[in-house]
Amino acid sequence: MGMVLLQILLLSQALGRWVYGAEFHDFTMVQLAYFPERMSADIFGNATLDGTLTHSLKYHNGQFNVSQLFPLESSDLWEQRKESLLEYLNIFKDLVSIIARERKILYPLHVHCNTGCQLFANGSNSFYEVLLNGMEFLRFHASNHTWVPLENSARARYTCNKLNEFPQSTVSLQLFLQETCINLIKTHIEMKEASTGKQKGRVHAPLVLGISIGALALIGLAVCIFLCTGGKR
Ligand SMILES: *[C@@H]1O[C@H](CO)[C@@H](O)[C@H](O)[C@H]1NC(C)=O
Ligand SMILES: *[C@@H]1O[C@H](CO)[C@@H](O)[C@H](O)[C@H]1NC(C)=O
Ligand SMILES: *[C@@H]1O[C@H](CO)[C@@H](O)[C@H](O)[C@H]1NC(C)=O
Ligand SMILES: *[C@@H]1O[C@H](CO)[C@@H](O)[C@H](O)[C@H]1NC(C)=O
Repeated sequence: MGMVLLQILLLSQALGRWVYGAEFHDFTMVQLAYFPERMSADIFGNATLDGTLTHSLKYHNGQFNVSQLFPLESSDLWEQRKESLLEYLNIFKDLVSIIARERKILYPLHVHCNTGCQLFANGSNSFYEVLLNGMEFLRFHASNHTWVPLENSARARYTCNKLNEFPQSTVSLQLFLQETCINLIKTHIEMKEASTGKQKGRVHAPLVLGISIGALALIGLAVCIFLCTGGKR
């Protein structure tokens, strides 16, 4: 009985993986930042690939915890990634405080970023949305590397105009969403197929992690750019 159940379970998992694999894959990064008042921040973030948690990020009162949930990268490299993420988070919270002051935005403040890409059997798609206090604020269109305001407000228009003034950042974001992110998914699929014996050949796991942490760091940079340009006049 137990054996049959196990076999059914394994079979349904294999079928599920096949159906899932044929239709849809996605890599999503989420960052939630809460600023109860000036100089105080709580930040949570994670990355998921096909719904599986790949990275987590947490920042509270200067205490920082970021984890890779698969031991794919050497500890040396991982320590370097953590350093740059910490640097990013410090810049991020300082700049939110500057912008809030400049644009006279009142605390408490919630900044929510949701970004990633999706791979279908017949194409791909990407998304990057920023919410301010739970309301849609900005969206990045990778097709024409343009930020558009989602809120009908002077601050959203101002921020978009500022962001779009820097083609270096918008083009690199476009490249990240349309190529790096999609390649990450493809590499992940290859790894999965290799591990289930569908495909022969060696896959280099550290490379995959390099890409995915690079992605996290790059998104950090993109948000940082968002805030940097928003903070300037
Ligand atoms: C990732 O973080 C978001 C926001 O905190 C949360 O809603 C979601 O459940 C998390 N995903 C996983 C797989 O833990
Ligand atoms: C850091 O996060 C990881 C993953 O969420 C968790 O397992 C670990 O206990 C956390 N460490 C600290 C010091 O909070
Ligand atoms: C992919 O195929 C689905 C139907 O199977 C269709 O709805 C969708 O628009 C197609 N996407 C592209 C990018 O062609
Ligand atoms: C870019 O594309 C989006 C979505 O199609 C559109 O709303 C926006 O007006 C476009 N911006 C420019 C400058 O073409």
